[in-house]
Amino acid sequence: MSDEPVMRTQVGIVGAGPAGLVLAHLLHLRGIDAVVLESRDRDYLEHRVRAGVLEQATVNLLKEMGVSERLEREALVHHGLELRFGGRRHRIALDELTGGRTITIYGQQEVVKDLIAARANAGAPLLFEVEDVRLEGVDSARPVLRFRHHGEQRELRCEAIAGCDGFHGICRDAVPSDVLTVHERVYPYAWLGILAEVAPSSDELIYCQHERGFALHSLRSPQLTRLYLQCDPGDRIESWPDQRIWDELHTRFACDGWELHEGPIVERGITPMRSFVAGPMQHGRLYLAGDAVHIVPATGAKGLNLAVADVRVLAAGLVRWFDEDDRSLLDAYSETCLRRVWRTQYFSWWMTTMLHRAPDDRDRFQANLQRAQLDYVTSSPAAATSLAENYVGFEHDVSERIV
Ligand code: FAD
Ligand code: DHB
Repeated sequence: MSDEPVMRTQVGIVGAGPAGLVLAHLLHLRGIDAVVLESRDRDYLEHRVRAGVLEQATVNLLKEMGVSERLEREALVHHGLELRFGGRRHRIALDELTGGRTITIYGQQEVVKDLIAARANAGAPLLFEVEDVRLEGVDSARPVLRFRHHGEQRELRCEAIAGCDGFHGICRDAVPSDVLTVHERVYPYAWLGILAEVAPSSDELIYCQHERGFALHSLRSPQLTRLYLQCDPGDRIESWPDQRIWDELHTRFACDGWELHEGPIVERGITPMRSFVAGPMQHGRLYLAGDAVHIVPATGAKGLNLAVADVRVLAAGLVRWFDEDDRSLLDAYSETCLRRVWRTQYFSWWMTTMLHRAPDDRDRFQANLQRAQLDYVTSSPAAATSLAENYVGFEHDVSERIV
């Protein structure tokens, strides 16, 4: 990209998370110019530990896009998951219940690494460490992104802007408050997540309900275990020394004939649990995607997958507009995406409330409802199938192949 203070592109993309990077590569494959602006540096993005579960449709798209070479070598395909409660183990056979669909374990930062490499190989513009990004004229035909890069003030003139800058980004604020409707629930619990250098204690994910709170066993590789614990949203990470974390994990996962392996903790953090949807997801020539417009509580493992599903629809709409001067898909972008967003929001809320301890449940009303639901899901093939088909995820909402 030129160093001129004023530049032009077809699509200005704010944010190089999964949403921004997948969108940029889809557009590149169809010959549409984009410039990606990212406030962090490359190293930070490539090492930020977050999601780990990819739906079948996400993996299929990454394959179609030609960015799955390492994923196909290193990722772990899972055919089932475990629900653990009352000290007993129950397997949900995802593949058998969904006609052969599976989930894939591959860290979000690995997806991001592969997509950044693809963009670099294509020689396509991705600017790291940009500062003070501002949107102008989103409801005109000439939207502009102003920002600072290496101390220089720059202007990027676009035909459309994609706001892929996550929950704490600035793009959502460019939609007037009388246009945007926000729906939000903050849950009375959070997740303490750790990455431990130890072989996983199970080949499959374990979602565990316990009277002391939820726990989740996941993994990243044959040598790396990812574990989560329900904690108080006000907890500070300092109040969770290693021994307290392991003691709590042992207590919650306890069941006969199964042992949790301990190892050095190499990463830790506390994440709040939130449901958030803002709509419409478009205004003028601004299109919002991913965490910038919706957050799901992590229990359903959906956030990254939903971000990818959004930009698949957005890319199809932009291609149709630029190639055929037909705005019909683009005009329907928000409506198309919000159907999946609310379906996913429901599933994530359902998984979350079924598995977490409600802090104010004095007469154990919630706990009894949870147990009834868990008994049902683990004894009725119809209920298990519903969980499985939502967990592996649905096909994307565009019929045409993008690549
Ligand atoms: P982000 O990944 O947040 O990317 C936004 C980017 O925009 C960032 O790189 C940010 O630096 C940049 N940015 C922000 N502001 C600006 C600005 N002003 N200017 C320029 N750039 C800016 N999802 C799943 O699907 N499966 C899981 O298993 C799962 N587990 C999770 C576990 C944890 C602990 C957490 C925290 C999240 C998890 N998620 C999971 C959610 C998932 O990580 C997010 O939904 C996903 O990152 C959304 O991608 P995104 O591209 O929309 O946003
Ligand atoms: C992981 C994260 C989730 O939110 C989830 O539901 C399952 C697994 C993970 O990071 O591996």
